[in-house]
Amino acid sequence: MKREKAVELLNKYIKSDHIFKHSYAVESVMRSLAEKLEPDKIDFWGITGLLHDLDVDTVDWKKDPGLHGPGTIEILKKENFGNEEMYHAILAHNEDTKVPRETVIDKALYAADPITGFITAIALVYPDKKVKSVKVKSITKRMKEKRFAAGANREAMKSIEDLGIEFPEFCELSLKAMNNISDLLGL
Ligand SMILES: [Fe+2]
Repeated sequence: MKREKAVELLNKYIKSDHIFKHSYAVESVMRSLAEKLEPDKIDFWGITGLLHDLDVDTVDWKKDPGLHGPGTIEILKKENFGNEEMYHAILAHNEDTKVPRETVIDKALYAADPITGFITAIALVYPDKKVKSVKVKSITKRMKEKRFAAGANREAMKSIEDLGIEFPEFCELSLKAMNNISDLLGL
């Protein structure tokens, strides 16, 4: 499985700039999580993160939220890319598919997805709008403010603890991962 091909698919199917950036952010966090949890699968985890939202500009998920996920699998099969492990993680990251999270990568993707948006929302509050201005403490503080980035699924982010990673450590890792690609993210 080649990352170049995954990037090609991203360019082909993603139209919105924010989903494009979000895909790269999730890739970066997934790579860092793999370093800790499945170090022989860093590229695979990264590619899965990169492609997890591939269908959002294609399927009408606002009408039926359960279509988000299956739409990506359809694209990936048509493009002859990915494997069952990847498909399962992508399906399970959207609760509306009713596919249970079973494997380590399933659970990692479920937590990595919302934290990138949450960190972005926090960064945008700072005058310089930079990820490097965000501290672990600002994330844990914002977690308790229910009205801040209300759409960000706190329970999903916290579920990283099921994989034996403490939440502050997950914040630190995610901040570093996003800071590594800050130019690309424009943050
Ligand atoms: Fe996502």
